[in-house]
Amino acid sequence: MKQIKIFDTTLRDGEQSPGCSMNLQEKIEVARCLERLKVDVIEAGFAISSPGDFESVETIARTVKDCTVASLARAAVKDIDAAWDAVKQAADPRIHLFIATSPLHMEYKLRMTPEEVLEKAAAMVAYAKQYCANIEFSAEDATRSDPAFLAKVVEAAIRNGATTVNIPDTVGYTTPNEMRALIEYLRANVENSDRADFSVHCHNDLGMATANSLAGVLGGATQIECTINGLGERAGNTSLEEVVMAMRTRSDVFAATTRIDTTQIYRTSKTVYDIIGQSAPLNKPIVGRNAFMHEAGIHQHGVLANKQTYEIMTPESIGIRADNIVLGKHSGKHAFESHLKEMGYTLSQEELLRCFQEFKVLCDKKKTVNDADIEALVTHNTKKSAVAEGGYALDWFAVHTSNFTTATTTISLKKGDERFEEVCLGDGPIDASFNAIDKIIKPIPHSFELYTINSISEGKDTLGSVTVKLSAGNETFTGRGLSTDIIEASILAYIEAANKLQQSPLAAAQSQKEKEEA
Ligand code: KIV
Ligand code: ZN
Repeated sequence: MKQIKIFDTTLRDGEQSPGCSMNLQEKIEVARCLERLKVDVIEAGFAISSPGDFESVETIARTVKDCTVASLARAAVKDIDAAWDAVKQAADPRIHLFIATSPLHMEYKLRMTPEEVLEKAAAMVAYAKQYCANIEFSAEDATRSDPAFLAKVVEAAIRNGATTVNIPDTVGYTTPNEMRALIEYLRANVENSDRADFSVHCHNDLGMATANSLAGVLGGATQIECTINGLGERAGNTSLEEVVMAMRTRSDVFAATTRIDTTQIYRTSKTVYDIIGQSAPLNKPIVGRNAFMHEAGIHQHGVLANKQTYEIMTPESIGIRADNIVLGKHSGKHAFESHLKEMGYTLSQEELLRCFQEFKVLCDKKKTVNDADIEALVTHNTKKSAVAEGGYALDWFAVHTSNFTTATTTISLKKGDERFEEVCLGDGPIDASFNAIDKIIKPIPHSFELYTINSISEGKDTLGSVTVKLSAGNETFTGRGLSTDIIEASILAYIEAANKLQQSPLAAAQSQKEKEEA
Protein backbone atom coordinates (compact mmCIF):
# COMPACT_ATOMS: atom_id res chain seq x y z
CA MET A 1 0.00 0.00 0.00
CA LYS A 2 1.29 3.41 -0.99
CA GLN A 3 0.93 6.08 1.73
CA ILE A 4 -0.86 9.18 0.42
CA LYS A 5 -0.53 12.47 2.30
CA ILE A 6 -3.70 14.48 2.72
CA PHE A 7 -3.12 18.25 2.42
CA ASP A 8 -6.22 20.12 3.55
CA THR A 9 -6.76 23.62 2.17
CA THR A 10 -10.25 24.32 3.60
CA LEU A 11 -8.81 27.27 5.51
CA ARG A 12 -7.09 28.77 2.45
CA ASP A 13 -8.59 27.78 -0.92
CA GLY A 14 -11.93 26.95 0.72
CA GLU A 15 -12.15 29.99 2.93
CA GLN A 16 -11.26 32.44 0.13
CA SER A 17 -14.39 31.51 -1.86
CA PRO A 18 -17.53 33.68 -1.56
CA GLY A 19 -19.84 32.85 1.34
CA CYS A 20 -17.23 30.71 3.12
CA SER A 21 -15.30 33.29 5.13
CA MET A 22 -14.60 32.40 8.75
CA ASN A 23 -13.44 34.42 11.73
CA LEU A 24 -10.44 33.49 13.89
CA GLN A 25 -12.41 31.40 16.42
CA GLU A 26 -14.07 29.47 13.61
CA LYS A 27 -10.77 28.81 11.84
CA ILE A 28 -9.28 27.48 15.05
CA GLU A 29 -12.27 25.21 15.51
CA VAL A 30 -11.86 23.85 11.97
CA ALA A 31 -8.10 23.38 12.52
CA ARG A 32 -8.85 21.34 15.67
CA CYS A 33 -11.26 19.15 13.69
CA LEU A 34 -8.63 18.65 10.97
CA GLU A 35 -6.07 17.63 13.57
CA ARG A 36 -8.51 15.08 15.03
CA LEU A 37 -9.19 13.86 11.50
CA LYS A 38 -5.42 13.36 11.15
CA VAL A 39 -4.78 15.24 7.94
CA ASP A 40 -1.06 15.44 7.20
CA VAL A 41 -0.94 19.13 6.29
CA ILE A 42 -3.22 22.03 7.19
CA GLU A 43 -2.88 24.99 4.83
CA ALA A 44 -3.94 27.61 7.35
CA GLY A 45 -4.10 30.64 5.04
CA PHE A 46 -2.23 33.10 2.85
CA ALA A 47 -0.25 35.08 5.43
CA ILE A 48 0.55 38.16 3.31
CA SER A 49 -3.02 38.62 2.09
CA SER A 50 -4.33 40.48 5.18
CA PRO A 51 -3.45 41.06 8.85
CA GLY A 52 -6.41 38.80 9.75
CA ASP A 53 -5.03 35.97 7.63
CA PHE A 54 -1.57 36.41 9.14
CA GLU A 55 -3.02 36.24 12.66
CA SER A 56 -5.02 33.10 11.93
CA VAL A 57 -2.08 31.29 10.31
CA GLU A 58 0.12 32.23 13.27
CA THR A 59 -2.47 31.14 15.84
CA ILE A 60 -3.13 27.82 14.10
CA ALA A 61 0.63 27.22 13.81
CA ARG A 62 0.90 27.64 17.59
CA THR A 63 -2.23 25.57 18.34
CA VAL A 64 -1.87 22.50 16.14
CA LYS A 65 0.67 19.88 17.23
CA ASP A 66 0.00 16.78 15.16
CA CYS A 67 -0.01 18.13 11.57
CA THR A 68 2.27 20.16 9.37
CA VAL A 69 1.01 23.76 9.13
CA ALA A 70 1.54 25.61 5.84
CA SER A 71 1.07 29.16 4.63
CA LEU A 72 0.70 30.05 0.97
CA ALA A 73 3.04 32.62 -0.60
CA ARG A 74 3.54 33.94 -4.12
CA ALA A 75 7.09 33.46 -5.42
CA ALA A 76 8.13 36.82 -3.95
CA VAL A 77 10.45 37.75 -1.10
CA LYS A 78 7.88 39.68 0.95
CA ASP A 79 5.31 36.90 0.64
CA ILE A 80 7.81 34.26 1.73
CA ASP A 81 8.97 36.43 4.66
CA ALA A 82 5.36 36.82 5.84
CA ALA A 83 4.61 33.11 5.36
CA TRP A 84 7.64 32.15 7.42
CA ASP A 85 6.86 34.67 10.18
CA ALA A 86 3.37 33.21 10.43
CA VAL A 87 4.28 29.49 10.49
CA LYS A 88 7.66 29.46 12.20
CA GLN A 89 6.24 28.45 15.60
CA ALA A 90 4.53 25.35 14.21
CA ALA A 91 5.70 21.88 15.27
CA ASP A 92 6.34 21.21 11.57
CA PRO A 93 6.14 24.41 9.49
CA ARG A 94 5.85 24.44 5.69
CA ILE A 95 6.15 27.31 3.21
CA HIS A 96 4.03 26.75 0.11
CA LEU A 97 5.04 29.02 -2.76
CA PHE A 98 3.63 29.22 -6.24
CA ILE A 99 4.12 30.78 -9.66
CA ALA A 100 2.11 30.20 -12.84
CA THR A 101 3.66 28.20 -15.68
CA SER A 102 0.99 28.22 -18.43
CA PRO A 103 1.51 30.44 -21.50
CA LEU A 104 -1.74 32.32 -20.73
CA HIS A 105 -0.85 33.12 -17.14
CA MET A 106 2.80 33.95 -17.89
CA GLU A 107 1.92 36.36 -20.71
CA TYR A 108 -1.23 38.06 -19.43
CA LYS A 109 -1.05 37.82 -15.64
CA LEU A 110 2.65 37.76 -14.79
CA ARG A 111 3.92 39.52 -17.93
CA MET A 112 7.04 37.37 -17.68
CA THR A 113 8.86 35.18 -20.20
CA PRO A 114 9.17 31.43 -19.52
CA GLU A 115 12.91 31.95 -18.77
CA GLU A 116 12.08 34.60 -16.17
CA VAL A 117 9.49 32.30 -14.56
CA LEU A 118 11.98 29.43 -14.42
CA GLU A 119 14.60 31.66 -12.82
CA LYS A 120 12.15 33.15 -10.33
CA ALA A 121 10.84 29.72 -9.29
CA ALA A 122 14.37 28.43 -8.64
CA ALA A 123 15.49 31.57 -6.80
CA MET A 124 12.39 31.79 -4.58
CA VAL A 125 12.49 28.11 -3.60
CA ALA A 126 16.13 28.63 -2.61
CA TYR A 127 15.17 31.77 -0.68
CA ALA A 128 12.40 29.97 1.23
CA LYS A 129 14.73 27.03 1.92
CA GLN A 130 16.98 29.27 4.05
CA TYR A 131 14.11 29.50 6.52
CA CYS A 132 12.45 26.14 6.38
CA ALA A 133 13.29 22.54 5.46
CA ASN A 134 9.73 21.74 4.39
CA ILE A 135 9.05 23.58 1.11
CA GLU A 136 6.19 23.02 -1.29
CA PHE A 137 6.35 24.48 -4.77
CA SER A 138 3.21 24.80 -6.96
CA ALA A 139 3.19 25.43 -10.70
CA GLU A 140 -0.12 27.28 -11.02
CA ASP A 141 -2.23 26.25 -14.05
CA ALA A 142 0.13 23.29 -14.53
CA THR A 143 -2.40 21.29 -16.55
CA ARG A 144 -2.50 23.99 -19.26
CA SER A 145 1.30 24.35 -19.30
CA ASP A 146 3.75 22.93 -21.82
CA PRO A 147 4.76 19.60 -20.17
CA ALA A 148 8.44 19.96 -21.17
CA PHE A 149 8.62 23.48 -19.68
CA LEU A 150 6.71 22.31 -16.60
CA ALA A 151 9.25 19.51 -16.15
CA LYS A 152 12.11 22.05 -16.24
CA VAL A 153 10.45 24.24 -13.59
CA VAL A 154 9.65 21.27 -11.34
CA GLU A 155 13.23 20.00 -11.71
CA ALA A 156 14.63 23.42 -10.75
CA ALA A 157 12.30 23.53 -7.73
CA ILE A 158 13.52 20.12 -6.50
CA ARG A 159 17.16 21.04 -7.16
CA ASN A 160 16.75 24.15 -5.01
CA GLY A 161 15.14 22.36 -2.10
CA ALA A 162 11.43 21.77 -2.73
CA THR A 163 10.33 18.67 -0.82
CA THR A 164 6.86 18.64 -2.40
CA VAL A 165 5.96 19.71 -5.93
CA ASN A 166 2.33 20.39 -6.63
CA ILE A 167 0.67 20.07 -10.04
CA PRO A 168 -2.55 22.09 -9.83
CA ASP A 169 -5.45 21.85 -12.22
CA THR A 170 -6.20 25.47 -11.34
CA VAL A 171 -9.21 25.93 -13.61
CA GLY A 172 -10.64 22.41 -13.41
CA TYR A 173 -9.88 21.74 -17.07
CA THR A 174 -8.07 18.43 -17.18
CA THR A 175 -9.43 14.87 -17.42
CA PRO A 176 -8.43 11.74 -15.47
CA ASN A 177 -6.41 10.22 -18.34
CA GLU A 178 -4.54 13.48 -18.90
CA MET A 179 -3.79 13.92 -15.20
CA ARG A 180 -2.43 10.42 -14.83
CA ALA A 181 -0.29 10.82 -17.97
CA LEU A 182 1.06 14.18 -16.78
CA ILE A 183 2.19 12.85 -13.40
CA GLU A 184 3.73 9.77 -15.05
CA TYR A 185 5.54 12.03 -17.52
CA LEU A 186 6.93 14.26 -14.76
CA ARG A 187 7.98 11.32 -12.59
CA ALA A 188 9.84 9.87 -15.60
CA ASN A 189 11.36 13.05 -17.00
CA VAL A 190 12.29 15.16 -13.98
CA GLU A 191 15.73 14.47 -12.56
CA ASN A 192 15.56 13.43 -8.89
CA SER A 193 11.77 13.19 -9.04
CA ASP A 194 11.99 10.49 -6.35
CA ARG A 195 13.36 13.07 -3.89
CA ALA A 196 10.02 14.91 -3.64
CA ASP A 197 6.40 14.18 -3.01
CA PHE A 198 4.30 14.85 -6.09
CA SER A 199 1.00 16.48 -5.25
CA VAL A 200 -2.24 17.09 -7.14
CA HIS A 201 -4.59 20.02 -6.51
CA CYS A 202 -7.73 19.77 -8.62
CA HIS A 203 -10.61 22.20 -9.02
CA ASN A 204 -14.07 20.90 -9.78
CA ASP A 205 -15.28 23.11 -12.65
CA LEU A 206 -16.25 20.11 -14.79
CA GLY A 207 -17.10 17.86 -11.84
CA MET A 208 -13.90 15.81 -12.27
CA ALA A 209 -11.80 16.94 -9.30
CA THR A 210 -12.11 13.68 -7.36
CA ALA A 211 -11.52 11.52 -10.44
CA ASN A 212 -8.54 13.67 -11.51
CA SER A 213 -6.95 13.51 -8.06
CA LEU A 214 -7.29 9.73 -7.92
CA ALA A 215 -5.89 9.45 -11.45
CA GLY A 216 -2.94 11.50 -10.21
CA VAL A 217 -2.37 8.89 -7.49
CA LEU A 218 -2.37 6.14 -10.13
CA GLY A 219 0.21 8.18 -12.04
CA GLY A 220 2.54 8.47 -9.05
CA ALA A 221 1.28 11.36 -6.90
CA THR A 222 1.85 10.90 -3.16
CA GLN A 223 -0.13 13.89 -1.90
CA ILE A 224 -3.70 15.04 -2.60
CA GLU A 225 -4.80 18.61 -1.88
CA CYS A 226 -8.45 18.83 -0.95
CA THR A 227 -11.03 20.55 1.23
CA ILE A 228 -13.79 19.47 3.57
CA ASN A 229 -17.09 19.30 1.64
CA GLY A 230 -15.20 20.28 -1.52
CA LEU A 231 -15.28 24.01 -0.66
CA GLY A 232 -13.13 26.25 -2.80
CA GLU A 233 -12.86 28.77 -5.62
CA ARG A 234 -15.77 28.65 -8.12
CA ALA A 235 -17.03 25.02 -8.25
CA GLY A 236 -14.68 24.09 -5.41
CA ASN A 237 -11.77 21.73 -4.83
CA THR A 238 -11.50 17.98 -4.51
CA SER A 239 -13.62 16.79 -1.55
CA LEU A 240 -11.48 15.26 1.18
CA GLU A 241 -14.22 12.84 2.15
CA GLU A 242 -14.58 11.58 -1.42
CA VAL A 243 -10.93 10.86 -2.17
CA VAL A 244 -10.27 9.34 1.24
CA MET A 245 -13.28 7.04 1.12
CA ALA A 246 -12.59 6.13 -2.53
CA MET A 247 -9.05 4.99 -1.67
CA ARG A 248 -10.32 3.12 1.39
CA THR A 249 -13.24 1.44 -0.39
CA ARG A 250 -11.32 0.65 -3.60
CA SER A 251 -7.91 -0.17 -2.18
CA ASP A 252 -7.89 -3.01 -4.73
CA VAL A 253 -7.66 -0.36 -7.48
CA PHE A 254 -5.60 2.39 -5.86
CA ALA A 255 -3.35 0.32 -3.59
CA ALA A 256 -3.14 3.44 -1.47
CA THR A 257 -3.91 4.39 2.11
CA THR A 258 -4.01 7.56 4.21
CA ARG A 259 -3.53 8.49 7.85
CA ILE A 260 -7.12 9.83 8.08
CA ASP A 261 -9.35 8.70 10.96
CA THR A 262 -12.43 8.28 8.77
CA THR A 263 -14.77 8.14 11.77
CA GLN A 264 -14.16 11.89 12.16
CA ILE A 265 -15.33 12.70 8.62
CA TYR A 266 -19.02 13.26 9.38
CA ARG A 267 -18.39 15.43 12.41
CA THR A 268 -15.81 17.55 10.58
CA SER A 269 -18.10 17.99 7.59
CA LYS A 270 -20.97 19.09 9.84
CA THR A 271 -18.78 21.52 11.76
CA VAL A 272 -17.60 23.18 8.55
CA TYR A 273 -21.11 23.39 7.08
CA ASP A 274 -22.38 24.77 10.36
CA ILE A 275 -19.72 27.47 10.46
CA ILE A 276 -20.42 28.70 6.94
CA GLY A 277 -24.18 28.47 7.53
CA GLN A 278 -24.85 25.80 4.90
CA SER A 279 -25.85 22.17 4.92
CA ALA A 280 -24.83 19.29 2.64
CA PRO A 281 -26.90 18.80 -0.51
CA LEU A 282 -29.06 15.75 0.22
CA ASN A 283 -27.30 13.60 -2.39
CA LYS A 284 -23.75 14.74 -1.64
CA PRO A 285 -21.44 11.70 -1.73
CA ILE A 286 -20.39 10.43 1.71
CA VAL A 287 -21.85 13.24 3.87
CA GLY A 288 -25.27 14.07 2.32
CA ARG A 289 -28.35 13.02 4.28
CA ASN A 290 -29.37 10.53 1.57
CA ALA A 291 -25.91 9.01 1.13
CA PHE A 292 -26.79 6.02 3.32
CA MET A 293 -30.58 5.98 2.93
CA HIS A 294 -32.43 3.29 1.07
CA GLU A 295 -35.85 4.56 0.01
CA ALA A 296 -36.83 2.29 -2.89
CA GLY A 297 -38.57 -0.92 -1.78
CA ILE A 298 -36.28 -3.15 -3.80
CA HIS A 299 -33.21 -1.57 -2.18
CA GLN A 300 -34.68 -1.85 1.32
CA HIS A 301 -35.43 -5.48 0.72
CA GLY A 302 -31.85 -6.14 -0.42
CA VAL A 303 -30.28 -4.19 2.44
CA LEU A 304 -32.38 -6.06 5.02
CA ALA A 305 -31.22 -9.38 3.57
CA ASN A 306 -27.56 -8.30 3.34
CA LYS A 307 -26.30 -4.73 3.73
CA GLN A 308 -23.65 -5.19 1.07
CA THR A 309 -26.28 -5.51 -1.67
CA TYR A 310 -26.54 -1.72 -1.86
CA GLU A 311 -23.97 -0.43 0.66
CA ILE A 312 -20.31 -0.17 -0.40
CA MET A 313 -19.25 1.44 2.87
CA THR A 314 -20.86 1.67 6.28
CA PRO A 315 -22.22 4.85 7.88
CA GLU A 316 -20.20 3.93 10.98
CA SER A 317 -16.96 4.13 8.96
CA ILE A 318 -17.46 7.90 8.58
CA GLY A 319 -18.70 8.36 12.13
CA ILE A 320 -22.49 8.11 11.79
CA ARG A 321 -23.78 6.05 14.70
CA ALA A 322 -26.36 3.39 14.02
CA ASP A 323 -28.12 3.36 17.43
CA ASN A 324 -29.62 6.76 17.04
CA ILE A 325 -32.46 7.43 19.51
CA VAL A 326 -31.35 6.55 22.97
CA LEU A 327 -31.97 9.43 25.33
CA GLY A 328 -35.22 10.87 26.65
CA LYS A 329 -36.60 13.15 29.38
CA HIS A 330 -35.92 10.53 32.06
CA SER A 331 -32.23 10.21 31.22
CA GLY A 332 -29.89 11.47 33.91
CA LYS A 333 -26.81 13.67 33.64
CA HIS A 334 -24.41 10.70 33.75
CA ALA A 335 -26.20 8.88 30.92
CA PHE A 336 -26.15 12.13 28.94
CA GLU A 337 -22.43 12.62 29.62
CA SER A 338 -21.48 9.08 28.67
CA HIS A 339 -23.60 9.27 25.50
CA LEU A 340 -21.77 12.47 24.57
CA LYS A 341 -18.44 10.68 25.13
CA GLU A 342 -19.53 7.91 22.76
CA MET A 343 -20.36 10.59 20.21
CA GLY A 344 -16.82 11.94 20.60
CA TYR A 345 -17.53 15.01 22.77
CA THR A 346 -15.77 15.68 26.05
CA LEU A 347 -17.15 18.83 27.68
CA SER A 348 -16.11 20.90 30.67
CA GLN A 349 -18.45 20.56 33.68
CA GLU A 350 -19.86 24.01 32.99
CA GLU A 351 -20.60 23.20 29.34
CA LEU A 352 -22.02 19.82 30.28
CA LEU A 353 -24.45 21.38 32.75
CA ARG A 354 -25.59 23.99 30.26
CA CYS A 355 -26.11 21.37 27.54
CA PHE A 356 -27.92 19.04 29.93
CA GLN A 357 -30.32 21.79 31.00
CA GLU A 358 -31.09 22.61 27.36
CA PHE A 359 -31.47 18.91 26.57
CA LYS A 360 -34.13 18.62 29.28
CA VAL A 361 -36.01 21.66 27.90
CA LEU A 362 -35.82 20.12 24.42
CA CYS A 363 -37.19 16.79 25.66
CA ASP A 364 -40.33 18.65 26.76
CA LYS A 365 -40.75 20.26 23.35
CA LYS A 366 -39.85 17.44 20.99
CA LYS A 367 -41.21 13.91 20.76
CA THR A 368 -37.87 12.25 20.05
CA VAL A 369 -34.43 13.70 20.69
CA ASN A 370 -31.84 12.05 18.47
CA ASP A 371 -28.09 12.35 17.91
CA ALA A 372 -28.50 15.15 15.36
CA ASP A 373 -30.39 17.24 17.95
CA ILE A 374 -27.84 16.50 20.66
CA GLU A 375 -24.97 17.30 18.32
CA ALA A 376 -26.58 20.64 17.36
CA LEU A 377 -27.19 21.46 20.99
CA VAL A 378 -23.60 20.70 21.98
CA THR A 379 -21.93 22.51 19.07
CA HIS A 380 -24.19 25.49 19.64
CA ASN A 381 -23.48 25.63 23.35
CA THR A 382 -19.75 25.11 23.17
CA LYS A 383 -19.53 27.95 20.63
CA LYS A 384 -21.67 30.15 22.85
CA SER A 385 -19.03 30.04 25.56
CA ALA A 386 -16.70 31.88 23.15
CA VAL A 387 -19.03 34.91 23.11
CA ALA A 388 -17.71 37.74 25.22
CA GLU A 389 -19.53 38.34 28.48
CA GLY A 390 -21.51 41.48 29.09
CA GLY A 391 -23.56 41.67 25.90
CA TYR A 392 -27.32 41.85 25.46
CA ALA A 393 -29.44 38.75 26.03
CA LEU A 394 -33.00 37.93 25.04
CA ASP A 395 -35.52 38.53 27.82
CA TRP A 396 -38.79 37.92 25.91
CA PHE A 397 -40.40 38.68 22.58
CA ALA A 398 -43.89 38.76 21.04
CA VAL A 399 -44.54 38.74 17.33
CA HIS A 400 -47.69 39.52 15.43
CA THR A 401 -47.75 38.47 11.82
CA SER A 402 -50.36 37.61 9.20
CA ASN A 403 -50.72 37.68 5.43
CA PHE A 404 -52.79 40.88 5.51
CA THR A 405 -51.08 43.07 8.14
CA THR A 406 -47.56 44.39 8.64
CA ALA A 407 -45.51 42.19 10.96
CA THR A 408 -44.76 43.68 14.38
CA THR A 409 -42.27 42.58 17.01
CA THR A 410 -42.17 43.71 20.59
CA ILE A 411 -38.93 42.66 22.24
CA SER A 412 -37.22 42.99 25.57
CA LEU A 413 -33.47 42.54 25.91
CA LYS A 414 -31.53 42.52 29.16
CA LYS A 415 -28.01 43.65 29.89
CA GLY A 416 -26.89 43.12 33.46
CA ASP A 417 -29.83 44.35 35.57
CA GLU A 418 -31.19 46.67 32.91
CA ARG A 419 -34.13 45.92 30.60
CA PHE A 420 -34.68 47.50 27.17
CA GLU A 421 -37.96 47.30 25.28
CA GLU A 422 -38.76 48.24 21.68
CA VAL A 423 -41.56 47.73 19.16
CA CYS A 424 -40.88 47.65 15.42
CA LEU A 425 -42.64 46.93 12.16
CA GLY A 426 -40.96 44.99 9.38
CA ASP A 427 -41.20 43.18 6.14
CA GLY A 428 -42.13 39.93 7.89
CA PRO A 429 -41.50 38.78 11.48
CA ILE A 430 -37.73 38.32 11.09
CA ASP A 431 -37.21 41.80 9.66
CA ALA A 432 -39.43 43.31 12.37
CA SER A 433 -37.48 41.48 15.08
CA PHE A 434 -34.07 42.47 13.68
CA ASN A 435 -35.22 46.11 13.38
CA ALA A 436 -36.29 46.09 17.04
CA ILE A 437 -32.95 44.58 18.10
CA ASP A 438 -31.10 47.22 16.05
CA LYS A 439 -33.00 49.96 17.90
CA ILE A 440 -31.73 48.61 21.22
CA ILE A 441 -28.19 47.46 20.40
CA LYS A 442 -27.52 50.18 17.79
CA PRO A 443 -24.81 48.24 15.95
CA ILE A 444 -22.11 50.22 14.11
CA PRO A 445 -22.43 50.43 10.29
CA HIS A 446 -22.07 46.96 8.78
CA SER A 447 -23.29 44.84 5.93
CA PHE A 448 -25.68 41.96 6.41
CA GLU A 449 -23.81 39.06 4.81
CA LEU A 450 -25.88 35.98 5.42
CA TYR A 451 -29.03 34.56 6.95
CA THR A 452 -29.61 30.81 6.69
CA ILE A 453 -31.96 28.43 8.37
CA ASN A 454 -31.53 24.65 8.45
CA SER A 455 -33.57 21.92 10.05
CA ILE A 456 -31.54 19.67 12.33
CA SER A 457 -33.54 16.46 12.09
CA GLU A 458 -36.74 15.10 10.59
CA GLY A 459 -40.29 15.90 11.69
CA LYS A 460 -42.46 19.01 12.08
CA ASP A 461 -41.12 19.64 15.57
CA THR A 462 -37.48 19.75 14.37
CA LEU A 463 -34.99 22.21 15.81
CA GLY A 464 -34.23 25.12 13.48
CA SER A 465 -30.63 26.28 13.33
CA VAL A 466 -30.15 29.85 12.15
CA THR A 467 -26.85 31.46 11.19
CA VAL A 468 -26.44 35.22 10.76
CA LYS A 469 -23.25 36.85 9.51
CA LEU A 470 -22.57 40.58 9.71
CA SER A 471 -19.42 42.16 8.37
CA ALA A 472 -17.57 45.39 9.06
CA GLY A 473 -14.02 46.31 8.03
CA ASN A 474 -12.45 43.01 7.02
CA GLU A 475 -14.12 41.08 9.81
CA THR A 476 -17.10 38.77 9.97
CA PHE A 477 -19.30 38.46 13.06
CA THR A 478 -21.29 35.25 13.25
CA GLY A 479 -24.27 34.47 15.42
CA ARG A 480 -26.15 31.20 15.76
CA GLY A 481 -29.51 30.41 17.25
CA LEU A 482 -31.12 27.07 17.92
CA SER A 483 -34.75 26.56 18.81
CA THR A 484 -37.86 24.64 17.81
CA ASP A 485 -39.28 28.15 17.18
CA ILE A 486 -37.52 29.56 14.11
CA ILE A 487 -38.30 33.18 15.01
CA GLU A 488 -36.65 32.67 18.39
CA ALA A 489 -33.67 30.95 16.69
CA SER A 490 -33.36 33.95 14.33
CA ILE A 491 -33.56 36.47 17.18
CA LEU A 492 -30.91 34.59 19.19
CA ALA A 493 -28.59 34.40 16.17
CA TYR A 494 -28.96 38.09 15.39
CA ILE A 495 -28.39 39.17 19.01
CA GLU A 496 -25.20 37.08 19.15
CA ALA A 497 -23.82 38.53 15.91
CA ALA A 498 -24.73 42.10 16.92
CA ASN A 499 -23.14 41.63 20.37
CA LYS A 500 -19.91 40.43 18.77
CA LEU A 501 -19.89 43.39 16.40
CA GLN A 502 -20.48 45.86 19.25
CA GLN A 503 -17.76 44.30 21.39
CA SER A 504 -15.17 44.43 18.61
CA PRO A 505 -12.27 46.94 18.47
CA LEU A 506 -14.02 48.44 15.41
CA ALA A 507 -16.98 49.52 17.56
CA ALA A 508 -14.62 50.91 20.22
CA ALA A 509 -12.80 52.94 17.53
CA GLN A 510 -16.13 54.23 16.19
CA SER A 511 -17.35 55.37 19.59
CA GLN A 512 -13.99 57.05 20.29
CA LYS A 513 -14.32 58.92 16.97
CA GLU A 514 -17.86 60.01 17.84
CA LYS A 515 -16.67 61.30 21.25
CA GLU A 516 -13.86 63.29 19.63
CA GLU A 517 -16.26 64.81 17.09
CA ALA A 518 -18.83 65.75 19.76
O1 KIV B 1 -5.61 26.36 -7.76
C1 KIV B 1 -4.41 26.66 -7.63
O2 KIV B 1 -3.61 26.67 -8.56
C2 KIV B 1 -3.96 27.04 -6.30
C3 KIV B 1 -2.49 27.19 -6.11
C4 KIV B 1 -2.15 28.45 -5.42
C5 KIV B 1 -1.95 25.99 -5.42
O3 KIV B 1 -4.75 27.16 -5.39
ZN1 ZN C 1 -6.68 26.13 -5.89
